[in-house]
Amino acid sequence: MTAAEEALTLLRQPDRYPRSAAYDPEWLLSLDMGPNPLWLLEDLCRDLDLRPGMRILDLGSGMGATSVFLAREFGAEVVAADLWVAPETAARVFAEAGVADRVRAVRAEAHTLPFDAESFDAIVCIDAFEYFGTADNYLPYLVGFLRPGGRLGVATPAMRREVRDLGAVPPHIKACVGWEAIAWHTAEWWRFQWEITELVTVTAARLQEHGCDDWLRWARAGLARTGSTTNESVVAMLAADRGELLTFALLAAVKAGPR
Ligand SMILES: C[S@@+](CC[C@H](N)C(=O)[O-])C[C@H]1O[C@@H](n2cnc3c(N)ncnc32)[C@H](O)[C@@H]1O
Repeated sequence: MTAAEEALTLLRQPDRYPRSAAYDPEWLLSLDMGPNPLWLLEDLCRDLDLRPGMRILDLGSGMGATSVFLAREFGAEVVAADLWVAPETAARVFAEAGVADRVRAVRAEAHTLPFDAESFDAIVCIDAFEYFGTADNYLPYLVGFLRPGGRLGVATPAMRREVRDLGAVPPHIKACVGWEAIAWHTAEWWRFQWEITELVTVTAARLQEHGCDDWLRWARAGLARTGSTTNESVVAMLAADRGELLTFALLAAVKAGPR
């Protein structure tokens, strides 16, 4: 087995992520914009109660693997909104995956979303909220697009302690992402940040126990596939961390009001 083939086998974890295991790892890596999006989404969905026919906003959908998953696994009608990826590019992914009738790609900036108020049953955001969602006024803005009783689910890189409490970004993390890690908050930070608004009830705010291991599997597979220095530096960061600080936060909330 070549190193690349071996790395791909790391991307199948049927016991932990049975639904994601049905997706071709090569296909997933070809859409790579960030770590293991389907594993994050599958785990997050355990807290979201998604139902067939729901209208879901996939915010920061990137190349769209998560939107395909939402359409196929939950029979959802999905709006895939992203800033960096052209809608035509994402639309090709949706057509090839056979979900073009249920997923619409839209170019959107997270602070000026082109949607009607209360027009979604759920909003999910996988590995993108850290780019735009940490400001005090962002949750209040975003939940305006959810119907009362609608669900919000976020999966985002996290640390087990706040950088503020550590006093600095730890060197092995700084070497890879620099100041960006100040947005990698603990689950409790997010819980407070959301609950204090009284606009949502937080139904789950947890750190993935095995998040660092999952992330390392993904980064190693990406490195074997591309040989890129970016992947190399992510692998070095995660291998040095060994899960002491780095993982993902999975956050779920329900918008206040009648369901
Ligand atoms: C790390 S990628 C993750 C993409 C995808 N969710 C995934 O997991 O593969 C982060 C995504 O966030 C999107 N993004 C970053 N800033 C944004 C903003 N201000 N408004 C909308 N999308 C944004 C980018 O376009 C990018 O696709």
